[in-house]
Amino acid sequence: MPLRSTGSGKVARDAVHHPLFARYYARISVNAETRMGMAGVRERLLAGLSGRVIEIGAGNGLNFAHYPRTVSEVVAIEPERTLRQLAVESALRCGVPVDVVPGAAEALPVKSEAFDGAVISLVLCSVRDVPRALGEVRRVLRPGGAVRFFEHGRGGGRVMTCTQRALDRTVWPPLNGGCHLARDPIAALRDAGFELGPYRRMLMPEKGPRLPTSYCVLGTAWRPALEER
Ligand SMILES: C[S@@+](CC[C@H](N)C(=O)[O-])C[C@H]1O[C@@H](n2cnc3c(N)ncnc32)[C@H](O)[C@@H]1O
Repeated sequence: MPLRSTGSGKVARDAVHHPLFARYYARISVNAETRMGMAGVRERLLAGLSGRVIEIGAGNGLNFAHYPRTVSEVVAIEPERTLRQLAVESALRCGVPVDVVPGAAEALPVKSEAFDGAVISLVLCSVRDVPRALGEVRRVLRPGGAVRFFEHGRGGGRVMTCTQRALDRTVWPPLNGGCHLARDPIAALRDAGFELGPYRRMLMPEKGPRLPTSYCVLGTAWRPALEER
């Protein structure tokens, strides 16, 4: 794992380092925009957002072109260096101001209650500590702020969920940038104290063979406006 200078004479490791996966993802994700209809999903994911938004695990920045003009600023957190560089290039081409920042979901490098919205797409599968990451999302959202999510997870019948679990224990995470197949994003959001808004379960791709990654959910959750202290 390469080391990064912090400017203080010390060196820091990249929080996430998956250079081969990053290059692979950069290629397949661009194809999936048209071939799998991901561009339309991103459009729905972000429609209606406004104000300051934080995007966690922005990857190569494919969401950026879909932010509506009502969004005043996006802070895009991306820990993987190769993907982050691609995200910077994508930020230069989009209509909304996007600041691409290194960092990990488990320790977001931003102030508390600083954002009106948060976006997580295809990220909860990969973070090391889901409760901690969602705790951080909750911390940085203002009370009443919205989380927009598009995630894949556990699904299908018994054979499929057994397959997902078996892959999670063996080859899948090391070959796919730490991705897990059998997580449950809806339960994770609920457990983290978010109020679940409307969400829709969907298959990706919508037609054709069902893959271990096909079981997706698209929706909104909120940090409660009034919280018990
Ligand atoms: C499958 S990609 C999705 C990228 C992008 N969100 C999208 O919709 O195309 C997963 C992303 O999660 C990022 N990631 C992995 N672990 C992370 C963590 N602990 N904190 C934040 N992002 C993380 C990866 O670097 C990668 O960019």
